[in-house]
Amino acid sequence: MVRIVVAPEDLYEFPYPSADLESKYPFEEMVFTRLDQRTMVERAEEFYALMDGRRSPRMFSPDPVPKRLIELAVATASTAPSGAHKQPWRFVATQNPEVKRAIRAAAEEEERVNYLENRMNEEWQEALAPLGTDHHKEFLEVAPWIVVLFEERYELRPDGQRRKNYYVKESVGIAAGMFIAALHNLGLATLTHTPTPMNFLTRLLGRPENERPFVLFPIGFPLPGVKVPALKRKPLDDVMVIVGA
Ligand SMILES: Cc1cc2nc3c(=O)[nH]c(=O)nc-3n(C[C@H](O)[C@H](O)[C@H](O)COP(=O)(O)O)c2cc1C
Repeated sequence: MVRIVVAPEDLYEFPYPSADLESKYPFEEMVFTRLDQRTMVERAEEFYALMDGRRSPRMFSPDPVPKRLIELAVATASTAPSGAHKQPWRFVATQNPEVKRAIRAAAEEEERVNYLENRMNEEWQEALAPLGTDHHKEFLEVAPWIVVLFEERYELRPDGQRRKNYYVKESVGIAAGMFIAALHNLGLATLTHTPTPMNFLTRLLGRPENERPFVLFPIGFPLPGVKVPALKRKPLDDVMVIVGA
């Protein structure tokens, strides 16, 4: 692969960090291993094939999952980039049957109003029709783990002071994607679930006022033989545009 050997000052008039910046804040040399092109393509193809095999089941097996695996997936997700490095996320995990039962009951109540009392408009219902989802959420009790990802709308310091977080939704969305990828990579399945509205999760999980539920993940193994909608993913040409030659 082409390597352009050139002194940084020939490329950058304003090098980062500036001497002034480095005198005020700590910096370190970035650790990065360059791979040869064949290895890069092989790894990219392997990772794509792995991720293309990810699906969201709606029936989980009750088989237990060690806490360490959940911790590792959260640790991986928490390596995500975030606005001003605020890491404005909190992954709240439970395998407690009573907590899961309470979450299921509250989620089913909200979803009952959505599905049976027409809180969802027609366009929304039409989009969901091929998935056949309804207000029954038994998987919330059967899956061994539920992890609720909360966004930290602002930082609440121990002395009660508030500090702003930046690009919270973008940051938490990226962390969510990395969490899903980490779970899939380690051999677990999850469903991205958004029972709407989700405020009940703040109450049931005893979270502080600065946290707002973002998405709920039942996690475990798919029930053997479980079916998922036969979806097609958009081809590359439909999701990628290259501008210029
Ligand atoms: C933000 C978001 C919210 C979702 N909410 C729900 C949900 O509440 N219930 C559900 O059954 N699926 C939900 N899904 C799952 C999608 O329906 C699913 O990802 C999509 O149909 C593609 O299927 P796949 O994940 O198997 O590729 C959600 C997905 C996303 C990204």
